[in-house]
Order: sequence, then structure tokens, then C-alpha cells
Amino acid sequence: MNFLILLIIFASFEASKSFEINCNYQIRTLNIIGDVYECFITNIPISQGNTVTNITGTHLSEKNNDDVEALLFSGDWILSFFPKGFSEFFPNIKAIFIAFSSIETLYGDELNEFPQLKYLDFWHSNLTTISSRLFENTPKIIFIEISSTNLKQVGHDLFTPLNITQLQWIDFTNNRCINKRVMNGSENTINSFINDLRKRCPFDDEENVITTTTERSLTCSDQRIEDFVCDLEEHLMTKDERIDNLESRVKWLEEQLQKMITNPLDCK
Ligand SMILES: *[C@@H]1O[C@H](CO)[C@@H](O)[C@H](O)[C@H]1NC(C)=O
Ligand SMILES: *[C@@H]1O[C@H](CO)[C@@H](O)[C@H](O)[C@H]1NC(C)=O
Ligand SMILES: *[C@@H]1O[C@H](CO)[C@@H](O)[C@H](O)[C@H]1NC(C)=O
Ligand SMILES: *[C@@H]1O[C@H](CO)[C@@H](O)[C@H](O)[C@H]1NC(C)=O
Repeated sequence: MNFLILLIIFASFEASKSFEINCNYQIRTLNIIGDVYECFITNIPISQGNTVTNITGTHLSEKNNDDVEALLFSGDWILSFFPKGFSEFFPNIKAIFIAFSSIETLYGDELNEFPQLKYLDFWHSNLTTISSRLFENTPKIIFIEISSTNLKQVGHDLFTPLNITQLQWIDFTNNRCINKRVMNGSENTINSFINDLRKRCPFDDEENVITTTTERSLTCSDQRIEDFVCDLEEHLMTKDERIDNLESRVKWLEEQLQKMITNPLDCK
């Protein structure tokens, strides 16, 4: 009996360490980009910190993983984090569309594995915070839509080091801190949008905020700052730590399992 329970626990730890994505493959026509071959993700992963370990689904005829150019997540506020590892399967992703997600923070490394990315549509989400580093590794991006979110703070250098004049579509409408868009803007128009974004959604000196507020948290009594520190501390519990934690738990369970297998009388 114990053995069975342990097996189930063990199996569910294994499952939370990795996950399989299921795709419905289809062709979609995107604004500016045109037709793309897309993986429409139908099983949205729940737990944080996961990396895609396998992808299932049947390709349209004569298509394979290398043809997949777009990822689409949509639905029900279930997705609460940005999964990693898609590029291992789909090396040519140029469009990502995420709608109705519970993602609250974009930490900045989410898009690093998609250097070909041209199109990011982030529509209806609980997003509050975007780090400056988000577009550091996506030099080809031309379409950015972040709309209908709870956005409050955006990294001061969000568009660095992009060539801003290539941005044909910048849509930040219906957000808590900003409601504005620029389509095919001139350099001046885009710069004035960027200044506006900095003014309305300030996230001053992001790196320093993290170190100084951690120090201050020992003495400060201001509730607002405390809440903020609390948020930051949550963010600091990195994915790596969570994985380490899971790994040691799985290791422990494996040891217990091994003991039971070699010594079945012990578990009576
Ligand atoms: C990965 O998915 C493919 C189908 O796309 C399947 O044939 C294969 O068995 C899966 N591999 C693992 C390790 O689950
Ligand atoms: C995100 O926002 C939606 C719509 O406002 C809400 O229903 C959902 O509960 C929120 N999710 C979280 C995790 O706060
Ligand atoms: C920036 O983008 C514009 C518009 O696509 C292009 O004409 C220009 O050559 C680019 N500048 C650089 C330095 O790449
Ligand atoms: C931006 O310019 C391109 C090329 O001139 C054009 O095809 C497109 O319709 C324009 N988009 C908007 C939103 O004005």
C-alpha cells in the first residue's frame, strides 16, 4: 500500500519536472507578417519553471518541426508563466501570440531563445511588470502588441538595443499605465512614444531597486514598500532554485523506492 502511494507521489513529481506540449497545427494569417505555420497549444501547462520536454500533434502534410513559425497560447487565464525550451523543437519561431494569460511579470529572458522573432502579441493578461531586457535578443522584431493588461511598470530601456524605426506596429492600448499606439511611426513619433511610456509606467533603475529595497526591507515600515519587496522576493526565488528543490525531492523518493525494492519486507 505504502509502496503504491509512494509510486504515485514519485510519478507526479516526475510529471511536474517536465511536460509534453500538444499542438494543433494550422496556418494563420498575421498582421504585417502574413501566413505562418502555427502550433496552437491545446494543453496549457500549469506549474511554473517547466521546460518543454516533448511535443505531440500531427503535422499538416509535408510539414515538420522546422516549418513551425508561430506559437499560439490562448485561453481561460490558465497560463501563469512563460514556458521554456520550444526552440529545441521549433528553431524557426518568428511569431508568438499569448492571449488571456495570468502571466504577471516578464522577467526579460523569456524571448532569448527566439532570435528570429518578428511578432509578439500579448493580449489580455494580468501582466504588471516588464523588464528592460525583454527584446535584447530579438533584433528582428517589427510587431509588438501589449494590450489590455494591468501593466504598471516597464523597464526604462525596453526597446534597447532595437533599431526602433523598424517597429511598424507598437500597440500598448488599454493598459493600466498607458493607452497608446504607434503604427508605422517616424523616428520622432516612436521616440515620443518611448518617452511617454517611461513617464507613465516608471520602473526607475530596475537593477538598483532590487538590491536597495532588499537592504531596506529590514527597517522599512512603509506598507507599499513592504508589498513591493515581497513581490521582488518572490521573483528572486528563481526557476533554478525550484528545479533544484524538485530534483532533491525526486532523488530522495528514488532512494526510498530503491530501499523498498531491495528490501520489500521493510514496508510492511
Ligand atoms: C515524443 O512525442 C512523439 C510524438 O510526437 C512520440 O512518438 C514520442 O514517443 C515522444 N517521446 C517521449 C519520450 O515521450
Ligand atoms: C487574471 O485576470 C482575470 C481577469 O481579470 C481574472 O479572472 C483572473 O483570476 C486573474 N488571474 C490571477 C492569477 O490573478
Ligand atoms: C533601421 O531600420 C530601418 C527601417 O527598417 C532601416 O531603414 C535602417 O537601415 C535600419 N538601421 C540600421 C542601423 O540597421
Ligand atoms: C505600415 O506600412 C506598410 C508598408 O508601407 C503598410 O503595408 C501597412 O499597411 C502600414 N500599417 C499601418 C498600420 O499603417
